[in-house]
Formats: sequence, structure tokens, C-alpha cells
Amino acid sequence: MQPTLKPNNPNFSSGPCAKRPGYDVSKLELDTLGRSHRSALGKKALGLACSETARILGLPADYRVAVVPASDTGAIEMAMWSLLGARGVDVLEWETFSATWTNDIVEQLKLPDVRVIKADYGVLPDLARVDFNNDVVFVWNGTTSGVKVPDGDWIPDARGGLTLCDATSAIFAMDMPWHKLDVITYSWQKVLGGEGAHGMLIMSPRAIQRLEEYNPPWPMPKVFRMKSGGKVSEGLFKGETINTPSMLCVSDYLDALKWAESIGGVKGSTGTIARSEANLKVIEDFVAANDWIFFLAKDKATRSNTSVCLTLKANEDQVKKMVELLDAEGVAYDIGAYKEAPAGLRIWCGATVEATDLQALMPWLGWAYNEVQA
Ligand SMILES: Cc1ncc(COP(=O)(O)O)c(C=O)c1O
Repeated sequence: MQPTLKPNNPNFSSGPCAKRPGYDVSKLELDTLGRSHRSALGKKALGLACSETARILGLPADYRVAVVPASDTGAIEMAMWSLLGARGVDVLEWETFSATWTNDIVEQLKLPDVRVIKADYGVLPDLARVDFNNDVVFVWNGTTSGVKVPDGDWIPDARGGLTLCDATSAIFAMDMPWHKLDVITYSWQKVLGGEGAHGMLIMSPRAIQRLEEYNPPWPMPKVFRMKSGGKVSEGLFKGETINTPSMLCVSDYLDALKWAESIGGVKGSTGTIARSEANLKVIEDFVAANDWIFFLAKDKATRSNTSVCLTLKANEDQVKKMVELLDAEGVAYDIGAYKEAPAGLRIWCGATVEATDLQALMPWLGWAYNEVQA
């Protein structure tokens, strides 16, 4: 039977992700609009985007935070182009975005000493193979396979190389061991339901030291340039952005941070990690009760609690039809698997999604599955 109760918010996309509960664009602080981002007012807002991020995430005091161009892609590319080449590189690849970073390292930067440590959709590569004398590039959560690294225990505290972590679909939803990570990147559009356009780049003292001491042999486009006259541009970590940001997006991000703090912060019992884990639990219970739907992630410890990827006992056309049906009913938008990933569903479970909406969605999955079998 067709369920009657629908999710209040049918937005389950894996990016841009659902806006936070209670979001109201008219309530944003908009005094920065139409003003220079270099004005005292503009710089204050951008500075807060950095300092409030550090405070709410609980970053070590000596880690630095910058707002950079071009969303998470901009942030991780900027880090790779600025820091890599000083040592060999190990890159971990287990889904589409990690494959993109491999491609850039091998085909664009053309680094000579690269080891690609790969695995298929659904599993992690062998983390024991990583050589931490090399720089290591990896995603914390593979958004297109729903497979995450379970923790940072595989990363030694003492390491020769840097760890560069694309954490865009993990940060604020997973417990990150900061001291194991030298570069952390993300975009506002994921777990906090902010906007795209700008990326966040977090750097450890060792990453800053590399930036200071190493000059890559290739030209550096202006939008990636973190040094001026051979010195690190300190202003970058105080809100002096490389080029003009959207102050509307900045305001939206500050609103998202305030919300994160108001619900208990990142690690609180009602905070952003707890919300995301409770969301995953709704889907786990549904999968456990049905024999036609499975997690793409083979190992429970590596199961993403944000980009939850599911496979079905159904062919590709049937899955596509299900996604269309659910969209047409207005119960779930954008939940098809990523185009290069195995056919299936991908349901965002980040902090801005309400568990009650996922509970309302689950019976609809059963309904749509039956419809396409018929
Ligand atoms: C792991 C990962 N890296 C990078 C990106 C690209 O992010 P953006 O479009 O914000 O640059 C995404 C987007 O989904 C992602 O999931």
C-alpha cells in the first residue's frame, strides 16, 4: 500500500545538502551585502568564518583555517598544488572523488613518485600499505561509495610526510583525530547544509612549514597562491581571502555554525555527529528488516553515516524508476547513486537531515520497490 505520511523535507541530496531545520533565509545577517569584503565589516565576518570553525570543531590552537575559492575542490587542489612534489605521494582511491585526486596527481601534476593504493566501490584499500614517509592523499568519507575510514589509528603520530585529507562529507559528522591530519578540506554545502562556492582549508603547523619551505616547480595560478614574496600570506588565515567571496554565502555559513553550536556542538549528545549517527540508524534498521536492500559498504565499521549508499535486488532500470517515482511523489529528491558508482540509492544522513524524515521515507522505499517489481 502507498504510505500516506511523507517526509516534511524531501531533500536527501548528498550535496548541496538539506538546509538546517528551521532555516530561514530572511533571518540571515545581511549587513555585509553590498559592502567590500575588505571593509572592517567584511573582514570581521570572514575572520569569524575561520575562528568560529576552529572553535566549534575544537581544532588544536596551532591549526590554521582559511576560506578559499571553489568549494572543496578548490581547497584540496590548492593544497595538492602547493604542497605536493617535495616527497613521494601515496594516494588512496576507493570511489569517484578519490579517483579524481589520483588523476590530478598523476596526469596533471605528473609527479614521478606516486603509489596509487586502490580498492573497489564498497571497500577500503589496504591501509597497512601506506608509507607515511610519503605524503598521503585520501578522502575521509567516500561520498560516492558510502565507505569511510573508521578512525585515524592507521596514521602514525610521528610521520615523515604530510597527510592531506579531503573531509568534505565527513567533517562535523565524524570524529576527526586532528593531530593525524595535516591538511583538512571541506565545503559548506555538506554536513552543515551551507552553500557551495567556497572551500575551507585547515592546515597543521607541519603543513604551514612545508608551505613556507617548499616552492613547487610549476606555475601557481592566482586562486591557488598562498604565498606572497616567498612568505606565507598570513592574512589568508584571518579572513583576507585571495579573491572576492560571496558574502551571502559567508553569512549563511555563520548561521549554520551558530545552529551547530545551538544543538550541542559537534560532539555533544544531541550535536551534529549524534544526529548523523541517529540518521544512519534509521536506515540500518530498515535494511535489517528487508531482504532486498543492502549497504554498498561491506564492513559495518566503514559504513558512512552521511552518504549512505545502498544496493538493491533490482536492475538498473528498476532502480532508476524507483528514484523517479519517489521524486514524483515529492518524498525524496536526488537519491540516485552517483553516476559512476554501482546502481543503487544514496541517501544523505548528515546533521541537517531529520531522523523523523528518514523514518517517514523508509516505507516509501518499500512501496517504490514493490511498484517497480510489478
Ligand atoms: C569526497 C568529495 N570530494 C570532493 C567533492 C567536490 O566538492 P565540491 O563540489 O564542493 O568542490 C565532493 C562532492 O560531493 C566529495 O564528496
